[in-house]
Amino acid sequence: MTIPTGDGDPTGTLPPASLSDEHAVLRREVTSRADRVLREADEGRWPAEELAALVDYLHLEVLRQVVDEEWLLFRTARHTPDDMARLRADHLELRLTIEELAQAAAGGRTLRPAQLGATVRDLQTELDAHLAAEEKILSPSRRRPRPASPASARSRTSGMR
Ligand SMILES: [Fe+2]
Repeated sequence: MTIPTGDGDPTGTLPPASLSDEHAVLRREVTSRADRVLREADEGRWPAEELAALVDYLHLEVLRQVVDEEWLLFRTARHTPDDMARLRADHLELRLTIEELAQAAAGGRTLRPAQLGATVRDLQTELDAHLAAEEKILSPSRRRPRPASPASARSRTSGMR
């Protein structure tokens, strides 16, 4: 299943990216921005510009992906309630951590650089675990079969007498 990304192919001639392709982009872009934050924070400096860049990306791309997934995938995918509850709980956890980083970037929450570094590492751990779980749960081989319609169930049993 794919999610329209709205970018990358204005001609519409390329095949849509798969969920794992989109996740690979998110992983790469978050890691690159998070590494810049961590380089400064681990040296005891407050990485104002690097943190702003990370938070912008998290808001513009990661949270957009979360909304797209909940709207386009979770509503239509056939999965167990436990699987979907796990993915929704992961999304909530990511939103809370992103909000914590946004407050730190805006100066609304006072953190030391080491605390910021720990929060950024938590985000990376949460994101990696979530993306892996989502790819596994939403893979086509994990979907539950559709329940048989009454008509198809009748045709299968009609010759069994
Ligand atoms: Fe997700």
